[in-house]
Amino acid sequence: MIRVGVGTPRQTQIPPLELPRYGAERLSGIRCIATHLKPEPPNEAALTAMAMQRLDALVVLNITGTGFTRRGGGATGYVKEAYLAHLTPQESQALLAVGSSGVPSPRWSLSSPLSLDELTQQDFLDLVENLEAEFQREFVAQQVDIDHDRVLIVGVMTDEKSHLEFHDTLAELARLVDTAGGDVLQTVQQKRSRIHPQTVVGEGKVQEVALTAQTLGATLVVFDRDLSPAQVRNLEAQIGVRVVDRTEVILDIFAQRAQSRAGKLQVELAQLEYMLPRLTGRGQAMSRLGGGIGTRGPGETKLETERRAIQRRISRLQQEVNQLQAHRSRLRQRRQHREVPSVALVGYTNAGKSTLLNALTNAEVYTADQLFATLDPTTRRLVIPHAETGETQEILVTDTVGFIHELPAPLMDAFRATLEEVTEADALLHLVDLSHPAWLSHIRSVREILAQMPVTPGPALVAFNKIDRVSSETLALAREEFPLAVFISASQRLGLETLRHRLTQLIQYAVDSR
Ligand code: GTP
Repeated sequence: MIRVGVGTPRQTQIPPLELPRYGAERLSGIRCIATHLKPEPPNEAALTAMAMQRLDALVVLNITGTGFTRRGGGATGYVKEAYLAHLTPQESQALLAVGSSGVPSPRWSLSSPLSLDELTQQDFLDLVENLEAEFQREFVAQQVDIDHDRVLIVGVMTDEKSHLEFHDTLAELARLVDTAGGDVLQTVQQKRSRIHPQTVVGEGKVQEVALTAQTLGATLVVFDRDLSPAQVRNLEAQIGVRVVDRTEVILDIFAQRAQSRAGKLQVELAQLEYMLPRLTGRGQAMSRLGGGIGTRGPGETKLETERRAIQRRISRLQQEVNQLQAHRSRLRQRRQHREVPSVALVGYTNAGKSTLLNALTNAEVYTADQLFATLDPTTRRLVIPHAETGETQEILVTDTVGFIHELPAPLMDAFRATLEEVTEADALLHLVDLSHPAWLSHIRSVREILAQMPVTPGPALVAFNKIDRVSSETLALAREEFPLAVFISASQRLGLETLRHRLTQLIQYAVDSR
C-alpha cells in the first residue's frame, strides 16, 4: 500500500492506533520517502516522527532545481542529494541508565549525503532484516519478567499544589505502581497553570510522552490524577499505549490483595462503580447524536446490555455490602454488650499497623513493606495488666484498611463496612510512620478521611512509629507539634509498655464518657 501525505513530518505521521502492532521487537513494515526543498539533512522533527512510527527506514530526497513554476504547476527539479535514516537498537544497559528527568534520546542512524545512485544500491530488505534481528535480541533481554507492566508515569504540576506536595504525590504513585507489580521506567512532568481539557498535558508533551513510551518500550502510562473517559481515549489514540489513572492503580492493588469474601466483594463493587460512568459516558456521547439511523448499531445495543448487566451486579453487590454492614454491626453490638471496649487502629498505608497489632497481641497478621498489605479488618484481644493494681484490662484492637491521600470515592463507598469499624470503636489509635518524609501530610490525609465518616469517632491517641529510623531533629519536631503523642517502634518493640499504659488511660476516658 502506498500512502501519500502533504505537510510537516508531524502532520503526516500515521496515528499510533493505525500502525501495525508488532511490538518493540519489530519495525512497522513501513518505509517513508520524503521530499524536501531545502538542501539540508532531515531535522529532529522528521527523525522523531520516524521513531514514533517505528519506520523501517526513512529516505529524504532533497530536490533542487527551478523551484515552483509560476502558475502553481508544482516543483520541477532533480534530486540533488539523499539521506537514509533508520532506528538502531539501544543496549538494555542504556535503558536503565536513563535518569528521572529529560527525554531519553531515541537511537537512530543518519547517513551522510548520498547520490541517487548510491541510494539505489542500498539493500533495504537486508538492512531491515538485520535491524529486526538486533531488536529481537534486545527485546528478549528486556522481557525478563513478562508479567510486569513497563510503566511511564506522567505528573502534572498545577498551582494548587506546592513543589513538595507534587513530588510526594509522584513518589507515592511510583510506590503504588510498584506495589501493583509494575516497573516504573521513567517519570515525565509538566507544569501547567490549568489542565488541558482534552489531554491533561499540552500537545507537545503528549508527543514527548508518546516518543518516550515508544523509545523505552513502555506498556502502560499512568497519570497522577483522575482522567475522564474522553481524556483516556484521546491520550491512548495519540500515545498508542494503554493509559490509566491513579484510581485505577489503587483499585488494581485492592483487587490483587483482597483475600476474604467480604474484601473481594467490596473491591468488585468499587471496580464496577468506577467502570460504569466510563461506559455510560460513551453511551451518552453516542445518544447525543440524536438517535435514529446510524446510532442503533450493534455497538450501542451491546453497550446498553453491558451497562444494564453491570448495574444489576452493582445493586446486588451493594445489597451484600449492606448485609455485611449489618452483620458487622451485630458483632459490634455483641462486643459492646460484653462491655469489652474497642480501639480501632488507623493510619496511612504502610504505617506499621499490622506489625503493631502483632507486637501487641502476638497475632499473626500479614505484614509487608508494601502499600495495602492488609485489606481485611482483623480484631484481636489485648490484655493489659494495670501497672499499680495488677488488675487486667481487656481491649479489642481492630486493624483497618490503610488510608491514603485522596482515597478514591468508589473505594470509600465500597469499604464503608470496613471503615465503620473505625467509626464505632470506643477510641482510635492513629499510627504514623515518622520515618516517612511526608508524615505530616499523612496525618492530615487520615484526618480528612475520618472527617468524612458519618459517625464521629471517639478520642484519638497519636502514636509515632518507626522511631528506630528517625533523626533526633524529626523526633524533636514531632514532640513539639504533638506533645501528647506516644513514640514507638513496633518492629523493635520499643515504647510498647508506655503505649499499653496510655491505651488503658484512653479507654478509661472513652468508657467513662460513653
Ligand atoms: P497497610 O496494610 O498498607 O495498611 O500497612 P500497615 O500499616 O499494616 O503496615 P505493616 O505493618 O504491613 O508494615 C509496613 C512495613 O513497615 C513493614 O515492612 C514493616 O516491617 C515496617 N515496620 C513496621 N514497624 C516498623 C518499625 O518500628 N521500624 C521499622 N524500621 N520498620 C517498621
